Amino acid sequence: MSKQLVVALSKGRILKETLPLLADAGIEPLEDLDKSRKLLFDTNLPDVKLVIIRATDVPTYVQLGAADLGIAGKDVLLEHGAEGLYEPLDLEIAACRLMTAGVVGQQQQGARRRVATKFVDVARRYYAEQGIQAEVIKLYGAMELAPLMNLADEIVDIVDTGNTLRANGMEPRELITDISTRLVVNKAAMTMKHDRLKPLIDRLRQAVEARR
Ligand code: ADP
Ligand code: PRP
Ligand code: MG
Repeated sequence: MSKQLVVALSKGRILKETLPLLADAGIEPLEDLDKSRKLLFDTNLPDVKLVIIRATDVPTYVQLGAADLGIAGKDVLLEHGAEGLYEPLDLEIAACRLMTAGVVGQQQQGARRRVATKFVDVARRYYAEQGIQAEVIKLYGAMELAPLMNLADEIVDIVDTGNTLRANGMEPRELITDISTRLVVNKAAMTMKHDRLKPLIDRLRQAVEARR
């Protein structure tokens, strides 16, 4: 195992909040991420590299050891599964809730509920725990459209301000779980590269605590 440390970052919303946190922990990319089409970046620390990938790919990179560390939403981690991953730190950014939601005033009836979501495993587990029969329909975005178009009765999605739901005539129903961004670490790397990882994780923890 090389002594390089590779950190997998979720592009998009999380990235904007991640970079200042990494900077506080003493890690800064050597070039402007926004101005580059590159996906792999050197940092001010010669042994630390950053890869910028789709949020849903972060747990895969870390689990399989292509990255030693990763930064991803708890929603993505719940859907992916925790095998091969440690989750040592809540970075307390991109906070939101994973909820069920439906059309305002439209009460659920019928034995079987059609649920549109990109979190199919989380949704299946949730409805099973509730004793509700659910037909889960996989979508890749714009879940809020599905009930309006009668593709589904309900959705499972991220809710923050609730603006997207309101704008589409929908309302939040049940809270599945609170979500925030987490640091994940490859289990083998945690042992093999402990000397290098420990101070890095500690500095990130201090950066998170300094923001409270
Ligand atoms: P995607 O393109 O996969 O939707 P985003 O960049 O929108 O990725 O979201 C990345 C992560 O940010 C999500 O996995 C979730 O943890 C969090 N998130 C998503 N939407 C919101 C939101 N509206 N407010 C706060 N956090 C959010
Ligand atoms: C996310 C999520 C909801 C919305 C919730 O979508 O999928 O649609 O934010 O936030 P709100 O409660 O503050 O409205 P996002 O903006 O990330 O769009 P996309 O993932 O579909 O591109
Ligand atoms: Mg999104």
